[in-house]
Amino acid sequence: MKILTLIMAILLSVTEELTANDQLLINAYNRSSQSLDGQWNYIIDPYENGYYNYRYEPFEKQKYPGRGAFFLNSKSNNKSDLIEYDFDKSETISVPGDWNTQKKELLYYEGTVWYKKSFDYIKSNKTNRVFVYFGASNYETDVYLNGVKLGNHVGGFTPFNYDITDLITDEGNFLIVKVDNKRKKEGVPTLNTDWWNYGGLTRSVKIIETNEIFIRDYIIQLDSENPEKIKGYVKLSGESIYHNPIKITIPELGVDEKVITNKDGVASIDIVSDNIRYWSVKDPHLYKVKIHIQEDEVVDYIGFRIIKTEGKFILLNGEQVFLKGISIHEESPIRQGRAHSKDDALQLLTWAKELGCNFVRLAHYPHNEHMIRLADQLGILVWEEIPVYWTIDWENESTYENAEHQLSTVIHRDKNRASVIIWSMANETPTSKARNSFLNRLAVKAKQLDSTRLISAALEQSSQGGDGNIRTITDPFADVVDVLSFNEYLGWYDGLPEKCRDISWIIKQDKPVIISEFGGGAKYGLHGDKSERWTEEYQEFLYEENLKMISKIDQLQGISPWILIDFKSPRRPLPEIQDGWNRKGLISEDGHKKKAFYVLKEYYESK
Ligand code: GCU
Repeated sequence: MKILTLIMAILLSVTEELTANDQLLINAYNRSSQSLDGQWNYIIDPYENGYYNYRYEPFEKQKYPGRGAFFLNSKSNNKSDLIEYDFDKSETISVPGDWNTQKKELLYYEGTVWYKKSFDYIKSNKTNRVFVYFGASNYETDVYLNGVKLGNHVGGFTPFNYDITDLITDEGNFLIVKVDNKRKKEGVPTLNTDWWNYGGLTRSVKIIETNEIFIRDYIIQLDSENPEKIKGYVKLSGESIYHNPIKITIPELGVDEKVITNKDGVASIDIVSDNIRYWSVKDPHLYKVKIHIQEDEVVDYIGFRIIKTEGKFILLNGEQVFLKGISIHEESPIRQGRAHSKDDALQLLTWAKELGCNFVRLAHYPHNEHMIRLADQLGILVWEEIPVYWTIDWENESTYENAEHQLSTVIHRDKNRASVIIWSMANETPTSKARNSFLNRLAVKAKQLDSTRLISAALEQSSQGGDGNIRTITDPFADVVDVLSFNEYLGWYDGLPEKCRDISWIIKQDKPVIISEFGGGAKYGLHGDKSERWTEEYQEFLYEENLKMISKIDQLQGISPWILIDFKSPRRPLPEIQDGWNRKGLISEDGHKKKAFYVLKEYYESK
């Protein structure tokens, strides 16, 4: 059987990639699955020798790919055979996890690594569908099952899946994944970032089985115009999805609704209830929601709330809320490297709660789903962002498509999460005609996909007056966003902390204002006079002066200072102080709180 499969696979892979149906599964988080996490064999391939032949032609495009193609997992059949690789004799690496912090020789590596996982899989019913689901993989990923190309995915922080129903076998499956984290000018993000380029299968990989007819998508949210109505839709996939009965139950609300799908397999939901317990920071109540069809069932935990702006205010369920936030990179505290686990998420959000936060800015890319699900449970409001960061290739249409795909994917994944209130289109991008058009297109797309949440971006600030001490926002994107946000670094890049006393902010737009970043560096344990750069006292003084200054901004409705914990960056080499770390954290990378942590904590307690 195995030989036959492999021959079929080679023939198939020779002719064409299977059109892998890669529409993203909804709520993969709660679907039963077979995890492929654990030890995978890997091969470091800087010349992509496993992908291109010696004429630099992709093996997979060749009529006969030749057994040198790594995705075929070739084995010697006899002692005279020439095969120059062998996954099963290669070292292993943990998935999920970046390769940089697992293997010393890969700390700075930017290139291709191949992964291989062998597994058996017995379908519970022969007509069922089977998918392989990736939480994320940084940055460009090519996936092959049993020698057949499933697809190519670009983007390092969003999930993707492939339908492998027609390829998976009961035993001896081999999933081979090529991951390439080379930075590219046309990438999203582009060449230049202030964070470590962690490469690899950075989030979990799992096999999900569904019935032939299954629940492909749904949104179930509070109607933003009517707090006594829960509305949305359920979408089925498969054959004969027309006129299919769907049952929606929310036991705690006594809801047991039946709806019928239309010819496209879609059924809309309209549930009226006058005793909904709204999700809020103080009471992050989640309802167990069950969506059931004859052949399939999914369970989700959904909070019902309304987020809006009204003039300069942000309203959560009609009440003004001040966003006491902190920015966070997806970096594992203590263990280091890309965060990916529930424990990582719990540690980061517990520190945020200790700081007195009701809000986190997940910078600068979509974080793993544990963060969002935990924020739902802890009552922490969330700003999610796509890595349209600094000097993106604005004129490049494929760059735009990439950014829009990342935005659409994170909205698709998290649209049922009460904690998510803001979709951010960008961070600190230099204004230009091309950039404004790029961001405006993203804003239209975001509103099209989700009209219930707010949009923002870390905009450019500008100074007026001779001495430049009058600061304002003239960024044209300020007229598009719901919440006007900007980063400022007074006391760090922009003068010394005392300079805060000379600055006044004149913001004309009648919109809520969030200061999405301010801060400065400190090496934990380095003490001295508050005028001495890199001491904890300097950072503490910088926070004190900034907090006094921004409190004068009339429209200020929130802040997310930069940043919760120190994080790795190749841009920060200063020996004995940075050593490859950005030191603006309020907590060191090994979990020690700096003095400025307590300045911000006290400010939040006073709010
Ligand atoms: C910028 C940028 C961050 C960066 C920070 C810094 O505002 O948004 O990604 O890390 O400044 O310079 O530390």
